[in-house]
Amino acid sequence: MKMKSIFKFSMALSLLAIMVACQPKQTSRNLGEGSSDAASRVYIAPGQMDEFYAFLSGGFSGQVSVYGLPSGRLMKVIPVFSVDAEKGYGFNEETKPLLQTSFGMVPWDDAHHPELSQTAGIPDGRWLFINGNNTPRIARIDLTTFETAEIIEIPNSGGNHSSPFTTENTEYVVAGTRFSVPFPQKDVPIGSFKENFKGALSFITVNPETGHMEVAFQVLLPAFSYDLAHSGKGKSHGWTFFTSYNTEQSNTLMEANASQFDKDFVAAVNWKKAEEYVKAGKAREIPASYFHNVYDDKTHMATSEEKKTVKVLIPSECPDMVYFLPTPKSPHGVDVDPTGEYIVGAGKLSADMAVHSFTKMLKAIENKAFETTIDGIPVLKYDEILAGMVSSGGLGPLHTEFDANGNAYTTFFISSEVVKWKVGTWEVMDRVPCYYSVGHLMIPGGDSKQPFGKYMLAMNKITKDRYLPTGPELNQSAQLYDISGDKMQLLLDFPTVGEPHYAQAIPAGLVQPKSKQYFSIAENNHPHVTKSEADSKVVRDGNIVRVYMTAIRSHFAPDNIEGIYVGDQVYFHVTNLEQDWDVPHGFAIQSSRNAELLIMPGQTETMFWAPDRPGVFPMYCTDFCSALHQEMQGYVRVSAKGSNVPLKWWVGNQQ
Ligand code: CUA
Repeated sequence: MKMKSIFKFSMALSLLAIMVACQPKQTSRNLGEGSSDAASRVYIAPGQMDEFYAFLSGGFSGQVSVYGLPSGRLMKVIPVFSVDAEKGYGFNEETKPLLQTSFGMVPWDDAHHPELSQTAGIPDGRWLFINGNNTPRIARIDLTTFETAEIIEIPNSGGNHSSPFTTENTEYVVAGTRFSVPFPQKDVPIGSFKENFKGALSFITVNPETGHMEVAFQVLLPAFSYDLAHSGKGKSHGWTFFTSYNTEQSNTLMEANASQFDKDFVAAVNWKKAEEYVKAGKAREIPASYFHNVYDDKTHMATSEEKKTVKVLIPSECPDMVYFLPTPKSPHGVDVDPTGEYIVGAGKLSADMAVHSFTKMLKAIENKAFETTIDGIPVLKYDEILAGMVSSGGLGPLHTEFDANGNAYTTFFISSEVVKWKVGTWEVMDRVPCYYSVGHLMIPGGDSKQPFGKYMLAMNKITKDRYLPTGPELNQSAQLYDISGDKMQLLLDFPTVGEPHYAQAIPAGLVQPKSKQYFSIAENNHPHVTKSEADSKVVRDGNIVRVYMTAIRSHFAPDNIEGIYVGDQVYFHVTNLEQDWDVPHGFAIQSSRNAELLIMPGQTETMFWAPDRPGVFPMYCTDFCSALHQEMQGYVRVSAKGSNVPLKWWVGNQQ
């Protein structure tokens, strides 16, 4: 490490320490900033609805939370990569396969970047994608049900951070590896990083009708850390841009060792070119193991399939497919403006931000204006592709979103602020402080071709002194700003679920009319569905007992069961016969070591129960469904193994 860069780096670190330590206490100036006017602009009167749906990732909670904007009201928490006892997600038999991976069932992940599906570059309200970092995965949430519909694992990846970031027509969602790993995964010395490790960028196709994902191909890049991505739009449609850091290729003490070079790269991948190479048979089909899990709304079950191979493209064998754009310094976010012309790389250890021009990039490629090549990948000359520098006066730029009026908004973690600047002139227009240490920001449609604008949501990493204290752990916090005028104005603080690492928002009208109210019982194809109370029954096959149960206000059928023995493996297949909105039934039984079921109208869900002691165990509905909810209960009698209590079930006088 050169002395100069050590000095610069330690300067940045000490500055960070100072700024965190000196963050402003609430002063009379910012206490209740613009309070009465702001209050009226976020106030949604009882019975009124919000203008936008906002989807915030939960980070280490593994979930997605759905808020209304501008009110900041929490409407739903969608379990994705975390088991959720409230909804039985990951506990009932139907959803367990969604969490299957090549490592077995993994009940948690670190969920970072929600991304709405797009049509012609505009969020279309069909699906929400989100990445899981730790066990590389991408999930698809169906926005008719607000439930996780699919999860695909990403092979040859470690830390799926630069993901999912859709292309203009949701042709692909992408997955770039944050941690380069041995390729293929194997036992090698860590010190052989440069020889044995690689960084795979994966392109996952999305079926335009069903939304089903498939890993189409991977592009094998040098062992850098691929941090974030955004796909091109308009003129840059057909390209996806990934930031990288640790181009130093260090594998220890990264905070210093990965910060030596003045510039790292944005990797520009021409995925249309990659498609041509795949068609031409240039991809190597290599062995891999990864799981593809799909939930079916008709069978109300997820199924899991292990995939065994993946197609890999090697840039040195596929010219004109990948270019490196030098970008200062350890860039974090990479964001493409609504026209598709400007590619903003936020060098998190620099003060100024480099903006690249897509047009200049194409010209540099045409003129072969290369500094060098790395593993067959041309490095374009920095001066030839630079459109301009944003001299923000901020420190630690992370992420940029755009409004519909040619403005960009960038978060600065270290100086804890959002800076508004003009795209094209790079002139700073406005800046507002965030409380405190803002990471990500979101403007409705702000990473699309047609930002809806109006609000900007800052997601802050440090919350201290904004809310009543709750012990050592404080929720992360979001702050909503009005961006409709020249100056940004703080409207609202609200605490978040988990740690949001990005968000998306969409006008309610693009989602609300398609929201499902219940599932058709006639179309329920669950293998263990019970479509009427008369069909309810209990079936024994050896020590496996299946209870075909129905639920309707306000009883289960059957609600009395005898002839279950210790050591049995009991499956309660409970079908909710209701055909009306907002009438789920719950199901729980004492002595089960499992979460409840929460069964939507028309749905079938299954609870596994292994009774381990004799007795008579009450079961009941857990979701307050009617005035007689408290009567929605029953008993199961468990007898000692080998006893001769006959199998019997009934409800009322029917036996
Ligand atoms: Cu059914 Cu409460």
